[in-house]
Amino acid sequence: MENRSLVTIAEHSKEKILYLLEMAKEFEKKPNRKILDGKVVATLFFEPSTRTRLSFETAANRLGARVIGFTDPKVTSSSKGETLKDTIMMVSNYADIIVMRHFLEGAARYASEVAPVPIVNAGDGANQHPSQTMLDLYSIYKTQGTLENLNIYLVGDLKYGRTVHSLLMAMRHFNPTFHFIAPEELKMPEEYKIYCKEHHIKYKEYTDFNEETIADADILYMTRVQRERFTDLMEYERVKDVYILRNKMLEHTRPNLRILHPLPRVNEIAYDVDENPKAYYFQQAQNGLYARQAILCDVLGITLDDVIKDAKK
Ligand code: CP
Repeated sequence: MENRSLVTIAEHSKEKILYLLEMAKEFEKKPNRKILDGKVVATLFFEPSTRTRLSFETAANRLGARVIGFTDPKVTSSSKGETLKDTIMMVSNYADIIVMRHFLEGAARYASEVAPVPIVNAGDGANQHPSQTMLDLYSIYKTQGTLENLNIYLVGDLKYGRTVHSLLMAMRHFNPTFHFIAPEELKMPEEYKIYCKEHHIKYKEYTDFNEETIADADILYMTRVQRERFTDLMEYERVKDVYILRNKMLEHTRPNLRILHPLPRVNEIAYDVDENPKAYYFQQAQNGLYARQAILCDVLGITLDDVIKDAKK
């Protein structure tokens, strides 16, 4: 049987990405549709989350599915030593689809290989966050009118930030120019730079973050320094506030510039940016609902045609 899991965005073709964006657009027009009536969605969060879990659960609820799951592995039998495989096998008995966030890189891939039901990777360690990428792409498309030929600046923790790794891979279809702005300690890992070279993705690297560096940006994608991934907290303290976006830095930026951030933010975007029309991170999080409705439907075998037909009922 075909494995419909979403483990990494790298598995999606350009056509598939554009198709999912079309589906997200349909859901934005009308989020409440009972198209998943009778389905059960499990959300297994072995790591903390606000947006990803709640938007997946909202997506499921608005589509008529039921939701089961946990937000803290300490209250599950994994705290008694149950393996991930056994947990996944058990939950597969109860649910039609498993949305899982795990602290181990590769956990989603492993789960997709052992589970009889599809797995959606809601973040595996510092590796990938494909559903975030779908909402990021939807946000970019909505604000720029295209995904093609954009200047995309990724700022902050490019080493541990899984959202930037996924975004980079998805953008290979759209001829971007990436600008990586990070301190030495948090530079984009070599494997992703090799990926760029293999896929003819243009990129430049900087350590300075100032008005001049970002003057040509279409998308400024800020990221949080991922405290939970550091083994040396002294190192975290050294780099945590190295880049802070302030409103006055945006004065001479392009009119079409939009600021994205997967959130949560800690200190990397000053609050005075929130009122700037170029700030888009809260709308971006809202777009997560529509993008995740599209992902749930697609993974469960519901097509865009099914969604459009349902709208006419
Ligand atoms: N963007 C994101 O993954 O947010 P949460 O950690 O709150 O789910």
